[in-house]
Amino acid sequence: MASVPSLATTVDQCVGDALAAALPEAAGADPLLRRSDRADFQANGMLALAKKLKGNPRELAGLVVERMATGAGEPIAQVEVSGPGFLNITVSDEVLVTTLAARAEDARLGVPYAPSPGTTVIDYSQPNVAKEMHVGHLRSTVIGDAVMRILEHSGEKVIRRHHIGDWGTQFGMLTQYLIENPHELDHESDAAGAGEAGEAAMARLNRVYKASRALFDSDEAFKARARDRVVPLQSGDKETLDLWHKIVDESKIYFRAVYEQLDVEIRDEDVVGESAYNDDLQQVVKDLESSGVAVRSDGALCVFFDDVKGPDGNPTPLIVQKSNGGFGYAATDLAAIRDRIGKLHADTLLYVVDVRQALHFRMVFETAQRAGWLPEGAAKQLAFGTVLGDDGKPFKTRAGETVRLVDLLDEAVQRAEAVVREKARDLGEEEIAERAAQVGIGAVKYADLSNSMSRDYVFDLDRMVSLSGDTSVYLQYACARIHSILRKAGEAGPRAHPELPLAPAERALGLHLDEFAQTLASASQTYEPHRLTAYLYGLATLYSSFYEQCPVLKAEDPATVANRLFLCELTARTLHQGMELLGIRTPERL
Ligand code: ARG
Repeated sequence: MASVPSLATTVDQCVGDALAAALPEAAGADPLLRRSDRADFQANGMLALAKKLKGNPRELAGLVVERMATGAGEPIAQVEVSGPGFLNITVSDEVLVTTLAARAEDARLGVPYAPSPGTTVIDYSQPNVAKEMHVGHLRSTVIGDAVMRILEHSGEKVIRRHHIGDWGTQFGMLTQYLIENPHELDHESDAAGAGEAGEAAMARLNRVYKASRALFDSDEAFKARARDRVVPLQSGDKETLDLWHKIVDESKIYFRAVYEQLDVEIRDEDVVGESAYNDDLQQVVKDLESSGVAVRSDGALCVFFDDVKGPDGNPTPLIVQKSNGGFGYAATDLAAIRDRIGKLHADTLLYVVDVRQALHFRMVFETAQRAGWLPEGAAKQLAFGTVLGDDGKPFKTRAGETVRLVDLLDEAVQRAEAVVREKARDLGEEEIAERAAQVGIGAVKYADLSNSMSRDYVFDLDRMVSLSGDTSVYLQYACARIHSILRKAGEAGPRAHPELPLAPAERALGLHLDEFAQTLASASQTYEPHRLTAYLYGLATLYSSFYEQCPVLKAEDPATVANRLFLCELTARTLHQGMELLGIRTPERL
């Protein structure tokens, strides 16, 4: 594994060296290099520098140009001063291809590890027990999975936590109902595949949930028994806990089925729900109270914030413990922070959760900081926006109910099947089904990831499975087309030929290929997978102009054929690697 310096790094260095040689007092100044369409790169740093040194920027730029080695054997082919004092820089074809060849040699495509990786705990995909998963859980799962992959690829140690909603008063109601109706969750062993087993499990849970809720709302005596049941549940009474386990296990069958369809790996050991922190809650309360971070108000244990007020102008506290002694969502989140920082030794805590919970996390983080459990800036909510319907309102069924995640995924796969079937010539039925799943699920994931996280987006399946535009299908087809060319090439394998002059479309593609590492670094530093989707879409677009302008297998001589095949292969590998980091498959045939 060898990391390969990018061309930007090489050019940066050349400019820096020339600058230091021309003007020793300017050594170490940032040349402010960026990609440009005038040349390959433009350096704008001379302007600020000249201002600082009270000189003329064009003159300064001219001095730097004089000191820059260009031409045969040098990384830089050409450099000139333009405008008020920019440097326009063109790299040599040879160094471009040599750099790409070094990338191709490496399994990681020359992408370096982060210089000082740490430990991140990422809290994502946290559905609620006994409830259906909805589009919000889709977002958390898809974004969390991509961020987790991108971070791991950078060398970060990533600990996954699925903070499922498996605790709280509704479990008093559910377990009490099962005590009184002991056989409601019983069933014959579920036949068929995970999908059907999951559906059947959810149907049973729905039935129990609805029935117990109806009773709870109509029967005062049951309501009282249900409330009382929370006490034995939270203090570990065996009979109650067994029933609770039955409910959780049933839900896990359902979750597993959804994850399988979504093609994400969720490991059992990472599912550490709210209940897991039950034993720590008393200590959380004690410590917060004794340190004065939290105070009793009408019997409840509260934390107050100067800038958090309700519509009536009164402060809205974070409630750690209710007046009846019960614990809520805030208490488990506080206990989880102590565990993640104290025991798991995390440097960074990420929470992939709906933006509508932003206030909750702000208050929880602030509380944990005041208590000294959380270093400042160590926790961050990756807050995502809402999925909307065509009407621009939160996505609902016609009947106004939340859309079940499974229904939505089924529909995406169906639409994808139509697309695959139309294009497929040599695929059998089984392959069509497999590809339809890869295309349909990929489309849903990509559409979610390609929007910047905090923005709402409209769930539009037609657009998502479209073959043109910024979609995963477009990228998957680009990949498959390259593989088909590579197969057709047969004997004539890919091989880099740095001695060949490059056509403009080859250079544009090559320069973009070289930016993969920078893209990944910025996606992992900012936790923004959409930087990667934008890069990959750019790559596929540049590849298609290259393909139009530069015949590959019919090129004039064998060396050009081999060099173009080399560009094709590196493009396919980069697309494949990038999509894999987004959790999206790129089959070799489509
Ligand atoms: N279960 C919650 C929901 O469905 C999300 C949990 C988010 N994570 C957390 N640590 N609070 O809305």
